[in-house]
Amino acid sequence: MKHFVSVDQLTEEEIITLIKAAQENKQASPIIKDTLFAANLFFEPSTRTKMSFQVAEKKIGLDILDFTKEASSVEKGESLYDTAKTLEAIGANLLVVRHSSDNWFEELDSLNLPIINAGAGKAEHPTQCMLDLYTIYEEFGTFKDLKVTIAGDIKYSRVAHSLAKALIRLGADVFFSSTPGLESDLPEVKHTPIDEAVEFSDVMVMLRIQNERHLEGNQYEDSFYLEKYGLTIEREKRMKDQAIIMHPAPVNRGVEIDSRLVECDRSRIFKQMNNGVYIRMAIINKLLNDWGFINEDITEKRNNFNRNE
Ligand code: CP
Repeated sequence: MKHFVSVDQLTEEEIITLIKAAQENKQASPIIKDTLFAANLFFEPSTRTKMSFQVAEKKIGLDILDFTKEASSVEKGESLYDTAKTLEAIGANLLVVRHSSDNWFEELDSLNLPIINAGAGKAEHPTQCMLDLYTIYEEFGTFKDLKVTIAGDIKYSRVAHSLAKALIRLGADVFFSSTPGLESDLPEVKHTPIDEAVEFSDVMVMLRIQNERHLEGNQYEDSFYLEKYGLTIEREKRMKDQAIIMHPAPVNRGVEIDSRLVECDRSRIFKQMNNGVYIRMAIINKLLNDWGFINEDITEKRNNFNRNE
């Protein structure tokens, strides 16, 4: 794998292999002792993805080149391409990039180092998709015939489309419960009102309204939105016994989900964040291996060495 910009790149077998690698990472982290540098280029705000990549990189043993957009030459007008090319020249071995453009990675394709998409406009957020898949797999041990509803602002979500497509490929039955005016045009996904979805779904994935991407600004009053389209306590009570609640976060408590449900027994929201570290480790390791920066034999020898140290 040259870069990781979309879950569409992965076969079903590769998705499961990465999930299993993440499970192994949760038990014991592989450690690279060579000096390899990672740079996390976040041109948009992030808490979870950026911190989770940092933890994943540190657990593997990568050195992190400190980059913040506000303190960089981006403020003097330097482009994404020139910023990335500069880091390549300085010696970065891995770039993790989040940018507001839907297809920023096309202009970086010629760079001679692996690149991971940490969010591209409203188009893709593939490592979020992978951690969502990992969390569902960890819960149910399969995707086959699971009923998964993705609810909320589907139109502007960079999570919804990749997750829906990947789940369908893996055998799940996927539904959208879209906020009116924020529907998706993905033809293979069925639509359902949230009041029906809560009763048949094994997984409810709640999405926040992406106000920052709405040209017309915030159109919904919070309590009206919750009652009409969100996951209320009353709707949660009608969910199946083993059904779970997910959300990529950040959560707008009291808008798409009642605040009391964020940490309820069914919620896997913080589990998703924890799983994000391990699946990102698996993705980074795969890329570094595929690029020949490390290989499994060396990693295994180093792990044995570390255990015996
Ligand atoms: N889920 C997610 O991408 O969160 P951040 O924007 O905080 O990284």
